[in-house]
Amino acid sequence: AFKPLVFSGVQPTGNLHLGNYLGAIRKFVALQEDNDCIYCVVDLHALTAQLVHEDMRNQIRSIAAAFIASGIDPKKHIVFNQSAVPQHSELAWIFNCVARIGWMERMTQFKDKAGGKNAEQVSLGLLAYPSLMAADILVYRATHVPVGDDQKQHLELTRDIAQKFNIDFGSHIRKAGTGVDIVVGEEPVHAYFPMVEPLIGGPAPRVMSLRDGTKKMSKSDASDLSRINLLDDADTISKKIRKAKTDPDALPSEAEGLKGRPEAENLVGIYAALSDKSKADILAEFGGQQFSVFKPALVDLAVNVLSPITDEMRRLMDDTSHIDAILRDGGERARARAEKTMKEVRDIIGF
Ligand code: ADP
Ligand code: NA
Repeated sequence: AFKPLVFSGVQPTGNLHLGNYLGAIRKFVALQEDNDCIYCVVDLHALTAQLVHEDMRNQIRSIAAAFIASGIDPKKHIVFNQSAVPQHSELAWIFNCVARIGWMERMTQFKDKAGGKNAEQVSLGLLAYPSLMAADILVYRATHVPVGDDQKQHLELTRDIAQKFNIDFGSHIRKAGTGVDIVVGEEPVHAYFPMVEPLIGGPAPRVMSLRDGTKKMSKSDASDLSRINLLDDADTISKKIRKAKTDPDALPSEAEGLKGRPEAENLVGIYAALSDKSKADILAEFGGQQFSVFKPALVDLAVNVLSPITDEMRRLMDDTSHIDAILRDGGERARARAEKTMKEVRDIIGF
């Protein structure tokens, strides 16, 4: 079997929000207790959203600062930026040749971002994004990937790419003597790349907009009231939660009662995730109460959890040389591990 290894990444595009924190970073922190973890600022991916960034270096630093301020230990684990390890791009090219265009065109994120646009306006990078994401993970032969629910489809594609590579190069992998015996479905397979497991669960796998319970909380939403940013101060958090869209009913006492009430479900999920409890636990406490009671409790909780992170992020961002040293050290360690894989991949391919 493959040695368990956790990998995930966050793009340095704009302010981090509560969705990024609950869907990803808070899970990264929890996983580091029992696992070897690699956490990456995926700067190459940021070019797919917008090619020219005025302040890329500080954006990269701020994601690394958020990781560390949230409690990730960069000495025990690895925190680095993607472009510091060129092996990601090298493996991505190989995966571009393994994967099929149709697989990429079927991705809902691609359809959301490129849909309705002329192909002359859409970068090849946006289409190939999931292939680079597969390389980010598999260049370490990582086995577990904590992400928000929106990334589920990309992780299925990562498995498809690994599977096709393992099959296409099957005899080469045997000859190179670098494969691992695993079982895929019922089939025993001699694989070079593992079938990654997404780690998506929890009470808030998809944090929704505070203004519209049918849209995910997102950096790109035009309304700042739709999201809580990790750098928001207490007053701003309070204002946004007080103004969050809800319905006129009291909270139900069981999770069933949240069906058809996306805004209520979202706020309860946020409360549960911030307190490491289940939605059922929260409803046992607040069932029968109005939002006029629940929202102030949520404000207190959110401020208690987020304000130490905000303060620490700001402190870290004041000392860029410290963050840069962490990224440099992480980059060196990541590069050594990625190069070990790429030596074997080049050998498998026959380069
Ligand atoms: P964004 O989606 O905000 O542009 P990224 O693509 O860098 O940011 O995502 C970083 C991580 O945050 C990913 O694991 C993604 O699944 C997670 N994430 C983003 N938005 C949400 C959300 N609204 N709810 C839960 N997780 C989210
Ligand atoms: Na995303």
